[in-house]
Amino acid sequence: MQKYIIEPIEELNGEIEVDGAKNGILPIMAATLLSTEPCIIHKVPSLKDVGVMVEIIRHIGANVDRAKSSMTVNVPKIKNSEAPYDYVSQMRSSFDVMGPLLARTGLARVPLPGGCAIGERPIDLHLKGFKALGASVEFGHGFVQAKADKLVGANIYLDFPSVGATKNIMMAATLAEGVTVIENAAKEPEIVDLAIFLSKMGAKISGSGTDTIRITGVKELKGCEHATLPDRIEAGTFLIMAAMNKSNLLIKNIVPSHLKPVIAKLIEAGVNIKEEEDGLRVISDGKIKPVDITTLPYPGFPTDLQAPFMALLCLADGSSTVLETVFESRFSHISELNRMGAKIKIEGHSAVITGPCQLQSADVKATDLRAGAALVLASLVAQGATTIHDIYHIDRGYNGLETKLRNLGVHITRV
Ligand code: EPU
Repeated sequence: MQKYIIEPIEELNGEIEVDGAKNGILPIMAATLLSTEPCIIHKVPSLKDVGVMVEIIRHIGANVDRAKSSMTVNVPKIKNSEAPYDYVSQMRSSFDVMGPLLARTGLARVPLPGGCAIGERPIDLHLKGFKALGASVEFGHGFVQAKADKLVGANIYLDFPSVGATKNIMMAATLAEGVTVIENAAKEPEIVDLAIFLSKMGAKISGSGTDTIRITGVKELKGCEHATLPDRIEAGTFLIMAAMNKSNLLIKNIVPSHLKPVIAKLIEAGVNIKEEEDGLRVISDGKIKPVDITTLPYPGFPTDLQAPFMALLCLADGSSTVLETVFESRFSHISELNRMGAKIKIEGHSAVITGPCQLQSADVKATDLRAGAALVLASLVAQGATTIHDIYHIDRGYNGLETKLRNLGVHITRV
């Protein structure tokens, strides 16, 4: 098990660049299974989760070539309609292959992804969509299987705007007969990017980015070329990191409109954020005012930045409240931040953070990806060198984090 040892830093000055989005590239890689022709994807982040998805689609029949930050995927034939347990168990978004497999071959068998550190994470809405399109769904021996002679377009209302269900149904519907309408669809930028990718492949999709997405099925999809959108969660993590320190930091390859609630809350907390030609500049004296946040589906405050934002609120001059409404148990970072001297109490789905506090170094554990990011941010302002264990979680979603931090003068060691 690898760990980080991170020393605090006096000031964060300079610039830092955001990579392609983890949650954007993964469904796009799954979508390549829909065509017999090659797809070329650029700005592919070099992440552990991308490696896992490569192995899954290779097992299914994809030829994958990677060169620098580009990837060519060609799936002339589906050799296997089953995703392997060893990989699916490492990454929930492997379930993204279900819709494309079902659409292309009429059969998809994927191990049940199960719960994880942030909640139970059921798949009922994905399955509701597949059934509405005419598939039969069965469970057995730890697998979920969807089967259909043909898929037929349908009206599907999602009880919750699930990102995963919206992606899976949208991909399955591209090759269905007739029109599919997804109501109460997720509106995340990664959904819009997937719709753009599918449209380049020849799919007929309108309304992505709104709560009603309409897909008119086509007979087949072709290859295409696409660049992954910037990672808004990595960008948000850097915004929060700069806010917590004395800093003058330019964050490049960022789409400010994808981060409106985060920018608004940072400004409310007293941070100075300026839009420049090639990015967002954060100027901070590290003094933070207390603010309350509620996580919501996009365009609300992203649950993926709840943990990093809580690290920031530990420094605030007063009491702040964080309400988590997307996942039922995404508070595992709290005990770790408290080990570092934070004063955070859980009250149901809320956390009450009493600041200001001087965080102190400690041995802490990254319990999931974003919890790990929160601990990295806390380490930079703590007294003494912090050791973060189980950093494989962080490797899942932050491309070249050590190099990026070292370039800003941070002393960070991987052991
Ligand atoms: N849900 C259901 N039934 C379903 C699907 C979802 O009840 O069939 C519930 C979930 O249990 C959860 C809520 O709906 O409480 C949101 O789940 P959603 O399906 O929207 O999320 P996801 O597709 O599983 C993606 C991201 C997550 C991000 C969430 C919310 C990817 C690969 N993952 O997950 O990212 O937190 O959307 O924005 O896109 C991360 O990057 O660290 C991460 C966890």
